[in-house]
Amino acid sequence: MIKKFIFGKPFETEAVIAEIPTEQGAVPYFTCDTAKGIKFTLNLKKSDAVYGLGESVRGINKRGYTYSTFCADDPNHTEATRSLYGAHNFIVVEQKDRVFGAFFDCPSTVTFDVAFTKADELLITSDNTNMYVYIIDGSTVYDIIRQFRKAIGMSYVPPMWAFGYTQCRWSYLSKDEIREVVRRHRELHIPLDAVYLDIDYMERYKDFTIDEKNFSDLEGFAKEMKAEGIRLVPIIDAGVKIEEGYDVYEEGVEKGFFCTDKNGKPFEACVWPGMTHFPDFLNPEARRWFGAKYKILTDMGMEGFWNDMNEPAIFFSQNSVDKTAQMVREKASKDEFTIDDFRELQGYLGSRQNCEEDYSGFYHNTPCGRYCHKDVHNLYGYNMTRSAAEGLKEAEPDKRFLLFSRASYIGMHRYSGIWTGDNHSWWSHILAELRVLPGLNMCGFLYVGADLGGFGCECSRDLLLRWLSLGIFTPLMRNHSALGTRYQECYRFENPEDFKHIIDLRYRLIPYLYSEYMKAALNSDMYFKPLAFEFPEDEIARHTEDQLFLGNELMIAPVYTQNAVGRYVYLPEDMTAVRMAGGNLTLTEMEKGHHFVVIPENEVVFFIRKDKCIPLCKAAESTNELNTNDLELIGTGSEYLLYADDGTGFDFSNPDNLKLLKK
Ligand code: NOJ
Repeated sequence: MIKKFIFGKPFETEAVIAEIPTEQGAVPYFTCDTAKGIKFTLNLKKSDAVYGLGESVRGINKRGYTYSTFCADDPNHTEATRSLYGAHNFIVVEQKDRVFGAFFDCPSTVTFDVAFTKADELLITSDNTNMYVYIIDGSTVYDIIRQFRKAIGMSYVPPMWAFGYTQCRWSYLSKDEIREVVRRHRELHIPLDAVYLDIDYMERYKDFTIDEKNFSDLEGFAKEMKAEGIRLVPIIDAGVKIEEGYDVYEEGVEKGFFCTDKNGKPFEACVWPGMTHFPDFLNPEARRWFGAKYKILTDMGMEGFWNDMNEPAIFFSQNSVDKTAQMVREKASKDEFTIDDFRELQGYLGSRQNCEEDYSGFYHNTPCGRYCHKDVHNLYGYNMTRSAAEGLKEAEPDKRFLLFSRASYIGMHRYSGIWTGDNHSWWSHILAELRVLPGLNMCGFLYVGADLGGFGCECSRDLLLRWLSLGIFTPLMRNHSALGTRYQECYRFENPEDFKHIIDLRYRLIPYLYSEYMKAALNSDMYFKPLAFEFPEDEIARHTEDQLFLGNELMIAPVYTQNAVGRYVYLPEDMTAVRMAGGNLTLTEMEKGHHFVVIPENEVVFFIRKDKCIPLCKAAESTNELNTNDLELIGTGSEYLLYADDGTGFDFSNPDNLKLLKK
């Protein structure tokens, strides 16, 4: 049962698409105060848990910290980070005698102080007094999540090939460099399905252009790669370069499709291409215009895209440049220019990236009127990605494209997946990834994954092996690293067969992973589930936050510490341990309880639940070559209901898609 409450005049975010009538009375459970901003308070007992908040730091149970939902271009994902790239205001509160969900549908910052300032209080605040609040009552955490997921609409479904292993780097600088990446994978028989094109494939970082020197005849190159079983996936950035003669810029200015400053002139800010304008994705016409541009690239054979810098990221604005110049002039004309003056200037410049003043200094032309960006900030990446998805649908209505975005808000999950942005080659980020996955699923984001091996910093062989051992289970499986860091393609390290065996296992699992993904999408279910949701009465399971269930049959417990020979695993029921060593699988029955499981870094262990079984196919070097009809069932169960479709279209409800496999 979902109840909807209205405060002020909310912006229509289109996060919730179910028709839900507005209630008149007070919001249940919370004490609400609207004297200054908006404030919801709830008393918490020590045993109460708060789940959700999608893309956020720390644990699965969010207790003990203050989170802010403000789409942030911040590559420092530490315990102290309050906002990441996505803004996902959905929580489930589990108390002794009741459980309920709450969604605060507000496109500017909402802060969740989850028993941080006061150990017995959940405090939710926003300066924005215009919002919808949805309260969801239900019998279990799952029941609430399912109701919410139904209300926000079905999650995006990628093409089946997007479950393959994919390789990225900022940037591969030429076709030859990409050919070499593919050649090395094929030579070593390391499976691979796609290579990404980061910003250098463009002509001076201009969206929908191609660098003719290093990427000439991209269409021919896409065909050549396709023949190798490889798709190319270009990046698209939010900012459009200001340059006379560049059609996207000129059209945008002429049609009034860019965000404007307070005087109505297109807002100017610096991102990768230099000074840019930001398309006004909250204007449906601008959205249509930008989305139609993706066809330029699909006509060249591109079958997937990643949308980046769409918080939007701002290095500095024209306003910052003007102010800095003025400060420099003033300081330099003083009789004495001191070290303090210098520091002040330096500090000022440093503070201009993604600054509040800039986000307050530009406007959108929306169907509900002119809005200051800061009041609708969290919808920008969502609507950029919606623009892409709608453009792609228009271009090729019967075809699924791979699409994922950096910034997001609930609602965007209907259009694409997300990747979790600029993480680091840190061991703690393997665990951080594991913990963020269920929260993302709760908010509808099923097609998710992190930069495997870590984006920033230097990746080591053991880190990549361990990270891939988690990555083989995430729908998006992409190895990506930043400019200037050590190259981390699998073949760069010794004994590449160890990587091959791990990625082979991913391909063997694809029929199962795809089937569970589709069941989660079609039934508003989660693909990754915390142990706490499945075994709420088991105190140990409730507090186990470094293991997850995947679908209805698997449990994963990856190693996330360096130099470990294995790890402790808690089995809340008897299970079958499946060990992959040297490409061979062995099965061992294990009893409910605590175990230390030895897992060398070139092996993978996962668990099949009691009385369940899963299908495995033979490994292949790309999804094109997978034989999904030749399946073997493993585990103690005797049957598995497989969902399998053509992997490319939208005929999801065809009864032939479901097959009961029996041993
Ligand atoms: C930031 C993105 O998060 C990263 O993945 C990408 O490589 C760089 N931008 C360059 O495009």
